Amino acid sequence: MARLCRLATFLLVQAAVAVAAPAHISSHCAKLRSLSLEQFNASIVNATYHAANAFNVSETFNDIPFCEVQAQVPYGKNNSLSFVVWLPDECDYQQRFLAVGNGGFAGTIDTVSMLKQLNAGLGLVVAGGNGGHEATGNTGDGFLPFMHDPGQIRAWIHDGISLFTSAAKEVVLAYYGKAAKKSYYAGCSTGGAQGYALAQYHPHLFDGIYAGSPGFWYSHLMLSFLWNLQKTNVGGTSLRKPQLNFTAQAVLDTCDTLDGVQDGLIENPLLCNFDIDSLVCGGSSEPDRCLSPDQIEAAKGIYAGPRRADNGEILYPGFSFGSEREWLLQEGSLGNEYAVPVLRNMVFDDLNWDPSTFDWSTDVDLVGSRASVLIDEISANLTSYRRTGGKFLTSQGWSDSYNAGELPVSHLEDIQALLGGDISDFYRLFMIPGGGHCGAAQYSPEVPAEYHYLGPLIEWVEAGTPPAQLLSSDPPDKSNRTRKLCPWPQTAHLVGENVNDWKNYRCE
Ligand SMILES: *[C@@H]1O[C@H](CO)[C@@H](O)[C@H](O)[C@H]1NC(C)=O
Ligand SMILES: *[C@@H]1O[C@H](CO)[C@@H](O)[C@H](O)[C@H]1NC(C)=O
Ligand SMILES: *[C@@H]1O[C@H](CO)[C@@H](O)[C@H](O)[C@H]1NC(C)=O
Ligand SMILES: *[C@@H]1O[C@H](CO)[C@@H](O)[C@H](O)[C@H]1NC(C)=O
Ligand SMILES: *[C@@H]1O[C@H](CO)[C@@H](O)[C@H](O)[C@H]1NC(C)=O
Ligand SMILES: *[C@@H]1O[C@H](CO)[C@@H](O)[C@H](O)[C@H]1NC(C)=O
Ligand SMILES: *[C@@H]1O[C@H](CO)[C@@H](O)[C@H](O)[C@H]1NC(C)=O
Repeated sequence: MARLCRLATFLLVQAAVAVAAPAHISSHCAKLRSLSLEQFNASIVNATYHAANAFNVSETFNDIPFCEVQAQVPYGKNNSLSFVVWLPDECDYQQRFLAVGNGGFAGTIDTVSMLKQLNAGLGLVVAGGNGGHEATGNTGDGFLPFMHDPGQIRAWIHDGISLFTSAAKEVVLAYYGKAAKKSYYAGCSTGGAQGYALAQYHPHLFDGIYAGSPGFWYSHLMLSFLWNLQKTNVGGTSLRKPQLNFTAQAVLDTCDTLDGVQDGLIENPLLCNFDIDSLVCGGSSEPDRCLSPDQIEAAKGIYAGPRRADNGEILYPGFSFGSEREWLLQEGSLGNEYAVPVLRNMVFDDLNWDPSTFDWSTDVDLVGSRASVLIDEISANLTSYRRTGGKFLTSQGWSDSYNAGELPVSHLEDIQALLGGDISDFYRLFMIPGGGHCGAAQYSPEVPAEYHYLGPLIEWVEAGTPPAQLLSSDPPDKSNRTRKLCPWPQTAHLVGENVNDWKNYRCE
């Protein structure tokens, strides 16, 4: 039976055509329409079987056939979360359940990630939900209805995954007649925050959690966006693209070889000391190859991160040396598309609130009482998750255009301090030199941008082998460059000849 299924899949992939589904499987799928999920307050909307290559998300097709179940879970006052579960044929299923997270303000199911994981050949059932609300299409600074309902705000990050997980697992049990043996979660950005929420508030649901570029200090991430917006939007403070490139190059000239390799990457930006004042424009400087005193102040503000005005408290880490090329988003769109709407809707309840009036003392307290309590998941106490035997893998790009690279580093230290020392038995952070937000950094197409985390996470959970390194591959420039990612505080050191081959590095 298993061999037949493999063969059929193989032939389908070769031919890249859809053929009619075997009738017995597709009717087995359709029977799920009458499955009761009452026990979980959920209900099935529909169930549809897709033959291999018959289903696509943005023209990426399914390598293997699957049964798609659409369902919903009502919650709170008159709210509902939509979710889908994709069930491969039994021979493609290795009793593993995976839920994927959301991006940004959620409101849609991330079928792009789901399809990627379904096609990964890891024997997964893949589930995903919409975060408890439908996207309004209102990404600007307008009214975001879900931000006016505390239940929906909670469903967005804290409960966005947990709300549908038990019902989705019931669907798995009903389809195969046996439960998944292990459950995994993978998400990035807001999805990374959802991963921290799962470990913190729902520690029994997942055996393995991957949280990429995590926005787990969400309310202060908004303050970081606002801070950088303000630093670069008065007078002549804005930093132009060629100037950012010039600055990044100057930093690289100073710090590239600190790690022993001249490869355009700084393995550990925390060891880099760069004097930004050295870039000040003089009489003969070309305009794009220097910074004005105002621009230097703006850059120092971005490196330093937001501070409280009254007591100097650090509200979020600043951006690291080497990340400068990616700062353009910090100068406008992130503040305007995320910080301003969150503050207007959730904190000030005023769509005309003017971001330049933010008081960096008293308004910080307002953010704390009105937003932080609902959307942050920053507790360092992951004792419960560790006790369940759960494994937590997180990664962060040093050139992330959204999230300050240092945040997960300082959080790791907080968790170590609280739990008392070595936590590598259940928690590992992989920093990505030159890495962007959930993948490629826009202006570093030469950096491998595919992070192979899920196989190693599965091996950690199922075989007890902790990941000593991760492979990164597939840079946007289509070269075959690969790099080794190391569990922080280790970094990759070249031990062979070829700097572009991950096998030539050792984590130490
Ligand atoms: C189902 O909904 C009822 C009523 O709203 C609630 O009391 C109960 O806890 C819910 N059960 C689950 C499994 O969520
Ligand atoms: C369920 O999906 C089938 C296709 O598989 C479609 O024909 C049918 O209309 C759908 N039913 C509902 C209630 O959406
Ligand atoms: C891919 O999916 C879209 C949306 O469902 C559909 O309109 C399109 O025809 C599909 N493409 C192919 C080649 O089947
Ligand atoms: C529930 O939501 C629907 C759709 O938004 C709305 O039409 C209905 O009036 C709401 N019911 C209650 C009791 O709030
Ligand atoms: C960035 O600077 C490098 C080195 O100075 C240069 O080769 C490259 O063309 C610049 N890129 C852009 C986009 O300006
Ligand atoms: C951490 O959480 C555990 C389990 O909930 C609890 O027993 C312990 O007291 C907490 N530790 C601290 C330092 O708060
Ligand atoms: C990448 O391609 C080059 C040229 O084809 C080849 O010499 C090299 O071995 C390849 N590197 C890797 C890591 O595959």
